[in-house]
Amino acid sequence: MKGKTIILGVCGGIAAYKAAALCSKLTQAGAKVHVVMTESATKLVAPATFQALSHEAVRVDTFDELDPKVISHIDLADRADAVVIAPATANMLAKMAHGIADDMLSTILLATTSPILAAPAMNVHMYAHPATQANMEILRERGVQFIEPGVGQLACGYVGKGRLEEPEAIVEYVKAHFASLEAPKLLAGKKVMITAGGTVERLDPVRYFTNDSSGKMGFALAEAARDMGADVTLIAARVSEAFPSDVTVIRAESALEMEAEVLSRYNEMDLVVKAAAVADYRPSETAAQKIKKTGETLNVTLVKNPDILEELGRRKEHQFLIGFAAETEQLESYAMDKLVRKNCDLLVANDVSQDQAGFGKDTNIVTIFDKNGPALALPVLGKRETANRILQVAAERMNAGGKA
Ligand code: PMT
Repeated sequence: MKGKTIILGVCGGIAAYKAAALCSKLTQAGAKVHVVMTESATKLVAPATFQALSHEAVRVDTFDELDPKVISHIDLADRADAVVIAPATANMLAKMAHGIADDMLSTILLATTSPILAAPAMNVHMYAHPATQANMEILRERGVQFIEPGVGQLACGYVGKGRLEEPEAIVEYVKAHFASLEAPKLLAGKKVMITAGGTVERLDPVRYFTNDSSGKMGFALAEAARDMGADVTLIAARVSEAFPSDVTVIRAESALEMEAEVLSRYNEMDLVVKAAAVADYRPSETAAQKIKKTGETLNVTLVKNPDILEELGRRKEHQFLIGFAAETEQLESYAMDKLVRKNCDLLVANDVSQDQAGFGKDTNIVTIFDKNGPALALPVLGKRETANRILQVAAERMNAGGKA
C-alpha cells in the first residue's frame, strides 16, 4: 500500500474504537491515511487518537479549512486512491444511498470518484432491516464494495450479524483491492463460468440433503477471474458467503437445476471451473407435503444425479475445462481418474481431510493435475491466492493455444 492515499471514514458506532487499530495498521502498511470522522464518532473516540496514529490532521467539520488554497472536502476526495469507511453505520449507508451530504464525510463520499470500501457495523436488526439492505443493494450496484460484518456478540447485547470485521481482515481486503487493480489481465475478453456451493436435494418442503460447501472456493475463483479481466458468470447453489461484486450470479439449488443453467451457457464460454460440490444422488421423489413421523424407520430411495462435469467433458469443443476433486484418500489416483473420465484440461484436487483445506475453510491445499500427472502442488494458501494460481495456470495454457 506504499504510496496510496486512503481516506478512513469513521462513523459513530461503538466499533469506532476498532478504527484506531485499523488506522494504525493501514499507516504501518505504508498508506497515507487521512481520517475523516463524523460528529458522533468524536463522542466515542477522540480525534487526537487518530491524529497521533496517522500523523495527519483529522477532519470533522466541512468548514474547517486547513489550507486556504484548496477546498478541503474536494481536495481530499480527489486525492484518495480509496475511501474506507469503518465502521459504516446504517445512517451513513442511508445518506450515501440517497446522496445526502450534510457533514464532511458524507460530502467527501458524494464528491469522490475513487473506489469506496465500506465495512458496516451495527445492531443485528438494524443490519437486517429492509431499509439498510435496500440501501446496501443500491450502493453495491453503484460499485461500493462491502466488507461484510461478522456474526457474534454485539455491543448492544444481541448475538448476530453486525460486528465490524477485524482490522487485520479489513487491511487484507484493502490490499486485495489494490492488488486486483494491478492484476495482469490474463483473462481479458474471456467468458468464464464458475460453479460454487453445495447443491440441495429436497426430500420434502422442509428437509433436504446437502453438504458443507460454503462457496468460498468458487467465489474466490470468480473474483480472481473478474480481476484478470474476464466476463464472469457464477452459478451458485447453497452458499454461506456474500456474492462477489461485478459478476453475473445465477442461482441453482439442485444438481438438476445446476445442470440446466450450466449446459445452457456452455457454448458461449471459454473457460469453465466446476468448484461446486454437486450431490451424486438425490431422493427419488420430493414429497409435496412435509413427511409425517410414522414408523420407527424411514427408507429413502436415492437416485443418481447426472454428472455435470462429465457431460461438459463430453460436449467440449473450444472450452478449457477445470474440474475439482474433494478427496479424503488416494488423492492422485482418484484425481487422475476424474480428469480422464470427465475429459478435463486440469483437475484441482484438495485433500479435504486436512485441517487447512476444503469445505468452509478460508485456506486450501491443492494439487493441480493435467493429463501427465501432477503439474503444480500448492502450499497452504488463502482461497483467493489459490484461485489466482489455478487461473494463472489455466490462462497460460489457454493463451498458448494448448490444452493440457
Ligand atoms: O465451497 P468451499 O467451502 O470453499 O469448499 C470448497 C470445495 C471443497 C467444495 C471445493 O474445493 C471442491 O473440492 N469442490 C468439488 C467438490 C466435489 O464435488 O468433488 P467431487 O470429487 O465429488 O466431484 C468432482 C468434480 O465433478 C467436481 O468438479 C464436481 O463439481 C463435479 N461433479 C460431481 C458430481 C456431479 N453429479 N456433477 C459434477 O459436475
